[in-house]
Amino acid sequence: MHDLLHVEVCQRVDSLLTITEISELVQAELDSMDEVVLNKPMLPENFSIEILKTHVQSICCSCGQEEKTHTKLRSHDIKLHIYRMNQEEAAVETMHKDGEEISAAAHWILPSEEFFGLWENLFYDSGVKENLLNFVETAMMFSEQKVNHHIISWNKVILLYGPPGTGKTSLCKALAQKLAIRFGDRFTRGELVEINSHSLFSKWFSESGKLVMNLFSEIRALLEDPKALVCILIDEIESLAHTRKACTNGTEPSDSIRVVNALLTQLDSIKRFPNALILTTSNLTEAIDLAFIDRADIKQYISFPNEQAIYKIYSTCVEELMRTGFIEAEEIYEMAHLKMMGYEETSKTKHSLMLFELCRESVGLSGRALRKIPFLAQALFLQTKHCSFTKYLRAMHLAVQRQKETCFEC
Ligand SMILES: Nc1ncnc2c1ncn2[C@@H]1O[C@H](COP(=O)(O)OP(=O)(O)OP(=O)(O)O)[C@@H](O)[C@H]1O
Ligand SMILES: [Mg+2]
Repeated sequence: MHDLLHVEVCQRVDSLLTITEISELVQAELDSMDEVVLNKPMLPENFSIEILKTHVQSICCSCGQEEKTHTKLRSHDIKLHIYRMNQEEAAVETMHKDGEEISAAAHWILPSEEFFGLWENLFYDSGVKENLLNFVETAMMFSEQKVNHHIISWNKVILLYGPPGTGKTSLCKALAQKLAIRFGDRFTRGELVEINSHSLFSKWFSESGKLVMNLFSEIRALLEDPKALVCILIDEIESLAHTRKACTNGTEPSDSIRVVNALLTQLDSIKRFPNALILTTSNLTEAIDLAFIDRADIKQYISFPNEQAIYKIYSTCVEELMRTGFIEAEEIYEMAHLKMMGYEETSKTKHSLMLFELCRESVGLSGRALRKIPFLAQALFLQTKHCSFTKYLRAMHLAVQRQKETCFEC
């Protein structure tokens, strides 16, 4: 059996072609190629079929193996996912108190322009992203086939936990977007509702109860449509646990525990819907004392990126700086290529190896900190607007040192 190659085709919003017409054009484009790049969107300027350029915004291919960067088309069965991007911004649910406005929830229709390319730009140890996708696919299948919960235990709650800045929130959003694209034949759209539990349970209690109820009646209304995939994201779920604890210690009004309990009960009931998925994140690295979380099927620890992941993050940064003219253009090799060459230094691999060296020094920094390094390098250690790769890397090296000295939660 051939490995499945997912080909995600983003059709322009103004294109009037049918799905069948787009499929035929994309198939013809693929037939003209021997090999495709994986996990990097192919843009219209690279299409060989002229008419495709006016109808398709991007084509992105991926298969089960995250490590691979290219693949031969003939070794795969192809599955096309044709979608249109929603261009509207998120609708924000706000609360008011003492003249201050705070967001309690945000709502996106997926696939959304805002999350374009997010999944492809998050890099983890191998398997993390693929496992998440497989998990949800299985959960959806079990739901659809109405597998009996009393016989086989499973649910659709995911918890991503780990240190700050490791991309947990981004990964939840990217996953929701990916699912909306991949499950386009089962669902006509995705809905992502992000509940900001931190603000809900910090100091806004008098309004929280009402807000939770309103939110969930809206979520239920969304779930009533079986053609909508509804993802509910609860960030910083530990704030619920904190609130409970504070209530039992008597440092919080007892009203608040009712709000937390109401939220947990609501979540418990909506996860029965076959089209619901609950995504949660936490900054805590130890166990979270919360009954709801015990029921999460996937508890995925998200750690600081390793050398390989850092190399991918830095490569995207460096490429962007080359595109915008800050660094002189040089070829940067993929990690797999360097490995294949036995990390041997030649005039061609020299720059890539320097970058790899910088990655080794950067271990221990979070994805968030790493993505700031090029900016810090430019702002603090470079006087010119355009310089050589070697010079920029030296500045990045200094920025890493600085970041390590001053960063409390890297
Ligand atoms: N592994 C990674 N690969 C690529 N980018 C990353 C990675 N980890 C973090 N980032 C980048 O860092 C930024 C912060 O990520 P995000 O807010 O999702 O982290 P978080 O884990 O939710 O943080 P917090 O715990 O503080 O809420 C994002 O712009 C994201 O793209
Ligand atoms: Mg977060």
